[in-house]
Amino acid sequence: MPTSPQLPRSAPFAEDQIAALNSVFSVTTAEQRAWLSGFLAGMQAANAPQGVAASPAAPPARKVPLTILFGTESGNGEALAMQARKVAAKLGFAAKLVDMADITPTQAAEARNLLVIASTWGEGDPPQRAVDFHEALMADGAPSFEKTRFGVLALGDRAYAQFCEIGRQMDERLAALGGTRIADRVDCDLDYEAPAGTWIDAILGKLNAETTADEAVTDEGASIIHVDFARPVADGFTRAKPFQAEITAHVRLTGSRSTSDTHHLELSLEGSGIEYEPGDALGVVPHNDPALADAILGAAGLAGDTALRSSLVERLDITTLTRKQIEDFCQLTGARVPEAGWETGRQVIDLLDAAAQRLTGAQLTGLLRPLPPRYYSIASSRKSVGEEAHLLVAGLRYTSHGRDRAGVASIDMTARHRAGDRLNVFLRPNTHFRLPADPNRAVIMIGPGTGVAPFRGFLQEREAVGAAGKNWLVFGHRNYLHDFLYQLEWQDWLKDGRLNRLDVAFSRDQPAKRYVQHALWESRHDLYAWLKDGAALYVCGDMNAMAKDVHATLLRIIADQGNFDEAAAKAELDAIRRDGRYLRDVY
Ligand SMILES: Cc1cc2nc3c(=O)[nH]c(=O)nc-3n(C[C@H](O)[C@H](O)[C@H](O)COP(=O)(O)OP(=O)(O)OC[C@H]3O[C@@H](n4cnc5c(N)ncnc54)[C@H](O)[C@@H]3O)c2cc1C
Ligand SMILES: Cc1cc2nc3c(=O)[nH]c(=O)nc-3n(C[C@H](O)[C@H](O)[C@H](O)COP(=O)(O)O)c2cc1C
Repeated sequence: MPTSPQLPRSAPFAEDQIAALNSVFSVTTAEQRAWLSGFLAGMQAANAPQGVAASPAAPPARKVPLTILFGTESGNGEALAMQARKVAAKLGFAAKLVDMADITPTQAAEARNLLVIASTWGEGDPPQRAVDFHEALMADGAPSFEKTRFGVLALGDRAYAQFCEIGRQMDERLAALGGTRIADRVDCDLDYEAPAGTWIDAILGKLNAETTADEAVTDEGASIIHVDFARPVADGFTRAKPFQAEITAHVRLTGSRSTSDTHHLELSLEGSGIEYEPGDALGVVPHNDPALADAILGAAGLAGDTALRSSLVERLDITTLTRKQIEDFCQLTGARVPEAGWETGRQVIDLLDAAAQRLTGAQLTGLLRPLPPRYYSIASSRKSVGEEAHLLVAGLRYTSHGRDRAGVASIDMTARHRAGDRLNVFLRPNTHFRLPADPNRAVIMIGPGTGVAPFRGFLQEREAVGAAGKNWLVFGHRNYLHDFLYQLEWQDWLKDGRLNRLDVAFSRDQPAKRYVQHALWESRHDLYAWLKDGAALYVCGDMNAMAKDVHATLLRIIADQGNFDEAAAKAELDAIRRDGRYLRDVY
């Protein structure tokens, strides 16, 4: 039951201990309880008689090889893989981190011990860099994993119908291919840290306990590509402990007659030690709309509870509605369970209004997930702006089921914050979306809408370091007059030759819709020539409405210009991607 837990009288504690623990539990949030459970599991593992967490001071003399394979889009899986590697190293494993982009199932099947961390994107799809690995693993010709012991950690978001689908598929497939499961798969929602930490401790503990001396190797064994992550985040700010950055500028970029409401924010990072690179994003820890918090309190019969109100505004996800929450709510209140799919386009407030049930404060908070952060591409370069980070934020508003809805973070940042206010942020590095190491290499940047944000950072950086490589930007939005984000800056860069080419596609300026992929197709001859000359191509922005169409258009262009059939065009684009010259940051 999603209420605050109470220890039963039968718990192995004295009565005063039970009372003391219950008084603590009654004021904890779901997030705090999840943290505690991870903490206690870790403590338990560390004290286990099997020597689960062997003392870091006395690692085994010979090391057991371990492959930690991750498939990630926005870096959560990668960060967890790094965390797992740290724990594994302390336990004396020879652990390698491998991105699914850099390995085939045949290579992975060489691993004796394999931890898989996989997130799900799109609508039940693999992260883009894991597409090939996933496809090959699921295909008929997939190799046997009989030599391999494995465990899977799935990352996802319960708000999506295909929750943790890719982790689930990989887990089942590895078992079907003969692998031995070390531990049951764990499916993580957006508050993944505590369950993931517990999974890491538990699975490594089990593996450690079950590993025989014969399996140890002195060298690092397996012939698997080893990924090195050069730059761990050193500033210490996280979603749980963010930096309070002052907003020093807050400007609306779209015109008053625009259908979108996009703002440029400048944040001061002074004193934070946050050292971002172009391509990185900032995590923003938002607050909810206080009016929505009040409506929820009112609907649950809890109006006037000020402590609860601040939890709803600051810490809990009061908008997302998942099937599981509906089921928990109906079990708790006896309300009728609505038909499957009822939750689509609806939020917590719709459920409370429809059911008209009174809840206790603990029942309400027990139903809600922790408020997740949102990510925003950094639109600046430190070499150009110093201790600042610039963001480009589109305020999200829409109507569904007769209610006006507002995006939590984007409206918090654009409508409820002003210059002079502070915003809770932390750095989200994106080591896979970097400018070419060679400053002479040309870049093609495709970034419609807010997808253009990182490319402003790229150009600032290329200007600051005096990179000689050519720069081509492809931008798109709805109207030339109202939506041309950073227009003057691009034009200045065009004038001074920093930007060699700017192609635009404004979808609503003519009767037939024109998008960036149309601009790309029209420029196919030059685009192919740039690629042939070694240009790196970047795509940022909307995953579903844009990146898929751009990808399909790139394949068409390569087929058309290179005289390839479909398969050969795909192989060509794959080769460019493997060469690190087709990079996407899409959301
Ligand atoms: C790596 C990365 C970089 C990003 N960079 C940027 C950036 O530079 N600028 C930027 O503005 N955003 C960026 N985003 C997106 C950003 O993180 C947020 O997702 C976005 O601002 C919306 O968040 P929100 O809290 O305002 O909306 P939320 O409260 O999270 O609401 C979004 C949800 O509303 C629902 N929804 C949205 N539209 C509709 C509709 N028409 N009908 C029904 N339901 C709907 C969907 O369920 C959707 O998931 C980035 C995302 C990632 C992952
Ligand atoms: C555009 C988008 C689509 C997503 N689609 C799904 C999905 O279909 N199923 C799911 O369980 N999670 C989905 N998620 C949630 C991610 O899996 C989750 O944020 C995860 O922690 C990301 O891990 P990563 O950073 O390692 O990629 C989606 C997230 C975004 C932003």
